[in-house]
Amino acid sequence: MDLLLSLFCSIIFLHFLSVNSRDSPPLAPALYVFGDSLFDSGNNNLLPTLTRANYLPYGVNFPGGVTGRFTNGRTVADFIAEYLGLPYPPPSISIHGTVLTGLNYASGSCGILPETRLKDTRNPCCTTWLNGTLSSIPFLEPYPNRSEYFFWDAFHITEAACSLIAARCITGSSACVPMNIKALVQI
Ligand SMILES: *[C@@H]1O[C@H](CO)[C@@H](O)[C@H](O)[C@H]1NC(C)=O
Ligand SMILES: *[C@@H]1O[C@H](CO)[C@@H](O)[C@H](O)[C@H]1NC(C)=O
Repeated sequence: MDLLLSLFCSIIFLHFLSVNSRDSPPLAPALYVFGDSLFDSGNNNLLPTLTRANYLPYGVNFPGGVTGRFTNGRTVADFIAEYLGLPYPPPSISIHGTVLTGLNYASGSCGILPETRLKDTRNPCCTTWLNGTLSSIPFLEPYPNRSEYFFWDAFHITEAACSLIAARCITGSSACVPMNIKALVQI
């Protein structure tokens, strides 16, 4: 099997009410994300917890840096939002009004098992506390070759790994069950 993963902690809801007619309408009107820190886009940063991704090198692939995501760049949910033609669902805790295109409720953490082609699927690509067994050390430079790594820190995966998982979730048959996102939006 190409990729063994446990996405059981992570559920993505697409909302299928009226789709607005625009030039290139999104494939679904909204994306609601429930899950763990692999999917968090900033909720934990706003909670009274020590588990926060509020320092570099988290977010290093974004021009603006830190976003609260527990990885160097986009999450699986972000890639799915891009596929659907929707904005990245903002962290629910940061929103006080109404966002019609979806929200991100993800927070917390759970496991994921890698088996991909990426060059390094064992070691984290950024220097972490306790020799690769904990979260990233603030402000240390991650490897420039981070796109070849599955793990970002001891608990979280890289943007490259998120991209692979999202691709399988969108068009593959094993990552997202009972159907992939492409089939889901055609219902
Ligand atoms: C990535 O770069 C680092 C630092 O230059 C090097 O030690 C490491 O072996 C490289 N990793 C891979 C998977 O090529
Ligand atoms: C850190 O981890 C590597 C790889 O598991 C190991 O070879 C090395 O001995 C460890 N270093 C320390 C200081 O524990």
